[in-house]
Amino acid sequence: MADTQSRSGPVSGTDNAMPGDQEPKKLFIKTYGCQMNVYDSDRMTDALAGAGYAMSETADEADLIVLNTCHIREKAAEKVYSELGRLRILQAQRAAEGKSTMIGVAGCVAQAEGEEIIARAPMVDLVFGPQSYHRLPDLLTRAKAGPVVETDFPAEDKFEHLPAPAREATIARGVTAFLTVQEGCDKFCSFCVVPYTRGAETSRPVAQVEAEARQLVDAGVREITLLGQNVNAYHGLDGTGETVGLAGLVRRLSEIEGLERLRYTTSHPRDMDDDLIAAHAELDTLMPYLHLPVQSGSDAILKSMNRRHTADDYLKLLERIRAARPDIAMSGDFIVGFPGETEADFEATMQIVREVRYASAFSFKYSPRPGTPGAELTDQVPEEVKNERLQRLQALIADQQTAFNSACEGRTMPVLFEKRGREPGQLAGRSPYLQTVLVDTDLSQIGTISQVTITGVGKNSLFGKIVT
Ligand code: 5AD
Ligand code: SF4
Repeated sequence: MADTQSRSGPVSGTDNAMPGDQEPKKLFIKTYGCQMNVYDSDRMTDALAGAGYAMSETADEADLIVLNTCHIREKAAEKVYSELGRLRILQAQRAAEGKSTMIGVAGCVAQAEGEEIIARAPMVDLVFGPQSYHRLPDLLTRAKAGPVVETDFPAEDKFEHLPAPAREATIARGVTAFLTVQEGCDKFCSFCVVPYTRGAETSRPVAQVEAEARQLVDAGVREITLLGQNVNAYHGLDGTGETVGLAGLVRRLSEIEGLERLRYTTSHPRDMDDDLIAAHAELDTLMPYLHLPVQSGSDAILKSMNRRHTADDYLKLLERIRAARPDIAMSGDFIVGFPGETEADFEATMQIVREVRYASAFSFKYSPRPGTPGAELTDQVPEEVKNERLQRLQALIADQQTAFNSACEGRTMPVLFEKRGREPGQLAGRSPYLQTVLVDTDLSQIGTISQVTITGVGKNSLFGKIVT
């Protein structure tokens, strides 16, 4: 989940042409962390396309390099500083060739560290937090006169000011897309830095989300994943001034012609309301896959994590969700080695995993984040104990994932074809349960959905045949 991602490939179209016949400047964004950062990097690319920047395949030839950083777990800031060390050398090499390279740090490390980044890495031109992305062209102009740090939470709605993605850019990004509908978090889980780096919960208005979804669909997108740090707490205003929850939003988006599939991530169990559960029963567009982190199976640890629910609350909630949508595939996040976690607490986590039977799950060693209540707790768990527990948990999760995938063999399911597969003549598609399915079929099928019978199960993907 916390992979480093970089999306490359030129952004074509007139939007990023420079006035006159000047060559477009080159932009390289390196993205760390979650899907929300992937979405943000695309929106930064869109904002900079208007200022004459085209995407570059590598950092080596970029006039502007942006690190879009993540602060969720350990050593995030240190990783950024060592990457900046490498970029300093690159910047010096390019300077020797008479080329200038501007360097920006965006995302949650930028938000958390602010001025400190310029103090430790003076070659950085620009430090800006997630709420400033719409100001990027202006910030760049200012940065030409000296380093700029912009980490305020401005009152204006950045989404109103961010340019819509160019049609060509959306087409190049493919038939599945992310759409951020909610940002920030008010839950204050005691391990988590998000409420501090991303601020209070905010939801985009319904009409704004609908307009962006329509643009995506017009450019060929067939599946949209709605994003938010706590997406099921979504409460956007509609045109009449009424508040609409995530279920209402999903219902409205389901009416967009050509939008075949919807997903949402990440959710908190406390915000999984009856209406959203009902939407899973009601809507064919809402895919039967739910990322619903529980973090721990121990009530004592859940309390200390400030999750405000018990293990049993989570299991009962799941019963209701499965009653509404029996084939729903479950995913989650787990933290091992939270301060005070005993062997019995950890065993409770193993037990809840056994009971839930996850299709996939992410697990992490607890890492104390400066400024969070968890970091102040005295009974931190030794590193070797965390390592050993993580291994046991990951082995169990891997077994469950294999079991889930194996149970799909022989089943027929709709697959959305996304891109070329590994072999010639093969396409990679997505099952409703977010598995990659490799199928022999031709390129023209990208963006279409076919019924596919699963004929084999590989390590990271399934193999299938189109039902004729
Ligand atoms: N240490 C380890 N894992 C963490 N996560 C969030 N904060 C921490 C932390 N301090 C994990 C949680 C969350 C996921 C995105 O990252 O499991 O759901
Ligand atoms: Fe962090 Fe998620 Fe808890 Fe919010 S709900 S504080 S984002 S773990």
